[in-house]
Amino acid sequence: MITPSSVTARSLRIGIAGCGAISANHLEAFRSLKDVEIVGVCDIDLQRAKDTAEAWGIPAAVNTVQELLDLELDIVSVCTPHPTHEDVVLQAAAAGAHVLCEKPIATDLASAERMVKACEDAGVKLGVLFQRRFWPAAQRIRAAIEDGTLGRPIMGQCSVMLHREAEYYSRDAWRGTWANDGGGVLMTQAIHYIDLLQWFMGEVAEVYGKINTYKHGDHIEVEDSATAIITFTSGAMATLEASTAVSPSLGVQIRVTGETGASACLSEFPEGSDGRVDLWAVSGSISTEPVYPAGVDPNVSLSTINGQLIPHHTAQVRDFVRSIRGGGEPAVTGGDATKALRILLAVYESSRTGLPVPFAPLPESTSPLARIAG
Ligand SMILES: NC(=O)c1ccc[n+]([C@@H]2O[C@H](COP(=O)([O-])OP(=O)(O)OC[C@H]3O[C@@H](n4cnc5c(N)ncnc54)[C@H](O)[C@@H]3O)[C@@H](O)[C@H]2O)c1
Repeated sequence: MITPSSVTARSLRIGIAGCGAISANHLEAFRSLKDVEIVGVCDIDLQRAKDTAEAWGIPAAVNTVQELLDLELDIVSVCTPHPTHEDVVLQAAAAGAHVLCEKPIATDLASAERMVKACEDAGVKLGVLFQRRFWPAAQRIRAAIEDGTLGRPIMGQCSVMLHREAEYYSRDAWRGTWANDGGGVLMTQAIHYIDLLQWFMGEVAEVYGKINTYKHGDHIEVEDSATAIITFTSGAMATLEASTAVSPSLGVQIRVTGETGASACLSEFPEGSDGRVDLWAVSGSISTEPVYPAGVDPNVSLSTINGQLIPHHTAQVRDFVRSIRGGGEPAVTGGDATKALRILLAVYESSRTGLPVPFAPLPESTSPLARIAG
């Protein structure tokens, strides 16, 4: 077993589990760092692992996660489909390797909690990819909340209005099913932006939501559209809308209004481009940028989206390596990543029952209804 504290002075040994679409982002990210060495890749499709190893000049291509761990890894990057994340993370933790797992951490809360506990018990770090937190625009809004420019958020809006073709869901058997994908637009696309919303707004008190399937019902059983009202323990409120039934895509906007009355909006258009602050309405003045710049193709291919995410994957991978070398927690821990999962699972539950899902007591003092009733 690797001793986690033994890694400060030497090159870190990296293994990549899963050689599909997103693995290139992890390979590119680790390759750009000093003092790390990608020593192996694995895939249940051995030929895919071999092709990846050959293309990237990696010494070992193996068929199973256990064979990968036998290479005495410091870090395993988990790039396998959602329902396999727990198995891979638990195996890595048992072998004493730190784990950087793709989103969603898991498709159910019990699984996410087992993963967090296994890593804690093994004394290894668990990071989960939410690379959009590393956008300078996202960090600017977060800083404006903390330094009082926006102040404590009171209202939020998260709009994730994306385009997907039928082929997106049919290219892999695991996509679009409750059993394997664990959900639709909320689980796979909107989770990134739900994470940003809760990172800006704070702890959630209650979620009320509805899901529906408008465009992709012939080839998926999960939702392609969702809406929700989210109330926070601070008393703040936010709305969420998410869909993959939109064409042309309208991209993503996340708007926050703080207790100072000031607002900022973060946009990603087209999907995969760097987030931009396109509204900064602070101190009596408004500066804006066009949300939909002219001449941009709104329906971007998946490979283009993934390719454009590489700098942000790299920033998060760098942060994860820093947390291992220097101590401290990674920017997005397993516990942090569980928050977004919990919110979207609550939208599913609320849609099923027709009732709001409570997370924590609602702050009565900030509720106008409480004041009217009082
Ligand atoms: N952070 C992001 O922006 C982002 C973007 C795309 C995908 N993802 C996430 O990355 C994960 C993988 O997505 P993808 O698009 O690369 O999928 P993919 O289907 O293209 O690739 C998955 C690969 O894992 C392999 N695999 C499956 N089970 C395995 C196992 N037990 N051990 C080893 N290999 C196994 C498959 O053979 C396949 O090659 C998903 O959880 C997805 O949500 C994240």
